[in-house]
Amino acid sequence: MFGPISIAPSILSADFLNLEDDIHLVEEAGAGWIHVDVMDGHFVPNLTIGVPHVAALKKICKVPLDVHLMIDNPEVQVPWYIDAGADLITVHIETLKDPAATLKLIRDAGRLCGISLNPPTPVEAIKDVIGLVDLVLVMSVNPGFGGQSFIPESTDKIAKIVEYANEAGVSPLIEVDGGIDTEKAHLVASLGADVLVAGSSIYKAQDPSEALRAIRAAAMSAQA
Ligand code: DX5
Ligand code: ZN
Repeated sequence: MFGPISIAPSILSADFLNLEDDIHLVEEAGAGWIHVDVMDGHFVPNLTIGVPHVAALKKICKVPLDVHLMIDNPEVQVPWYIDAGADLITVHIETLKDPAATLKLIRDAGRLCGISLNPPTPVEAIKDVIGLVDLVLVMSVNPGFGGQSFIPESTDKIAKIVEYANEAGVSPLIEVDGGIDTEKAHLVASLGADVLVAGSSIYKAQDPSEALRAIRAAAMSAQA
């Protein structure tokens, strides 16, 4: 909260046939994380990539892998993503039977753990676990697809998460995912977001490196 801003490009919008180049491109432009969207076709309608891809990405990524699990029953697969080398594993509160146990599993393996919540899920749902996480990922679109528009009500959630964290005496990173462009980057950073996921606004831009730098500059200017 109000520390340096990190940009986490989502490779969902990258060119899968040139993924290594597309990753090095954003790393050289200053990406703080590489955001990997894992979707199972159940929790979300879309199906993307999984454990073997994360293991392969780990071999070539120079910055930490931010693995966003949009899957049912994540407690079964979390150990697989730990073995694959995920540096940060974020699970959805909507999918967890025993949130504290799953988060502990991640932390005990020496990885960062994150909790996420969908747009319709009230912030109160994560109140009890806010002291157990390294990061809270606010979904600012309904998960499943890149290229959607930022849901304006997401800003109230960020403010509420900051409030809950302060009350609990903790300071998890706040990550915002979905519909982030320069304007939204400035907005959410001004509310206390630390990590900004951006897929289409980086990879669909004519110059992805320049787009990343512009997003980071817009976010940083909110903190000046
Ligand atoms: C959506 C994913 C996002 C997505 C963001 O379910 O979690 O990470 O790739 O894409 P943009 O930045 O295009 O909204
Ligand atoms: Zn994501």
